[in-house]
Amino acid sequence: MWPFNRKGPSGFSGSSLAEEVTQGIDGTGLTALVTGASSGIGAETSRVLALHGVHVVMGVRNLSAGERVKELIMKEAPNAKIDVLALDLSSLSSVRNFAYNFNALDLPLNILINNAGIAFIPFKLSEDGIELQFATNYLGQFLLTNLLLEKMKATSQENGVEGRIVIVSSDSYKMTYHRGIQFDKINNERRYVFFFFFFCPF
Ligand SMILES: NC(=O)c1ccc[n+]([C@@H]2O[C@H](COP(=O)([O-])OP(=O)(O)OC[C@H]3O[C@@H](n4cnc5c(N)ncnc54)[C@H](OP(=O)(O)O)[C@@H]3O)[C@@H](O)[C@H]2O)c1
Repeated sequence: MWPFNRKGPSGFSGSSLAEEVTQGIDGTGLTALVTGASSGIGAETSRVLALHGVHVVMGVRNLSAGERVKELIMKEAPNAKIDVLALDLSSLSSVRNFAYNFNALDLPLNILINNAGIAFIPFKLSEDGIELQFATNYLGQFLLTNLLLEKMKATSQENGVEGRIVIVSSDSYKMTYHRGIQFDKINNERRYVFFFFFFCPF
């Protein structure tokens, strides 16, 4: 069987659609932040959450692409509540600005979906001097989550609904350096392999 079709205890599989998973759920009163919402899984997640009444904040690095996704969702659901905010997870100052702007909206935060991510890219340093993939997929998400954690806890205490932090990941985590992440070599271009196979020598 195609592994993505194998159902887990929830009754859903990796092939289940967002609309199937959320069938019958009313998200009115909830607020969700979706990173990387300008395309792919993030755009679809935003769309389906908004269709179910969730107030969606889209964190995107390309604002015009984010606005286009918002327009499409609004065509389908004219009453949808959606905000688009600038967020570049590879930049620690952008993450801080985003958290500041998010807090300025004075919204609750029930659901944080850390979806944005990059993979298989050539070696490059972020503006903070950190290997770009690590900066984007780990440090940016970690800082963002920490900056929003108090807001999530306060929301949960106020409305009695448990919050959720979702980290969208990849099976590629299985294809890593044999000795794990080598933090002391993370910015070393000569040790960088953009795509790993099981026989990677490092
Ligand atoms: N699709 C798959 O089969 C698959 C498999 C394994 C894991 N995943 C994971 O699922 C997540 C979504 O993937 P996808 O397939 O929907 O890919 P995608 O269409 O490329 O979406 C990735 C999103 O992340 C955004 N992003 C990239 N770098 C960013 C940054 N520095 N700051 C803010 N946003 C940034 C992209 O923005 P731009 O539009 O501006 O580039 C894009 O909106 C990723 O974390 C990916 O690793 C997907």
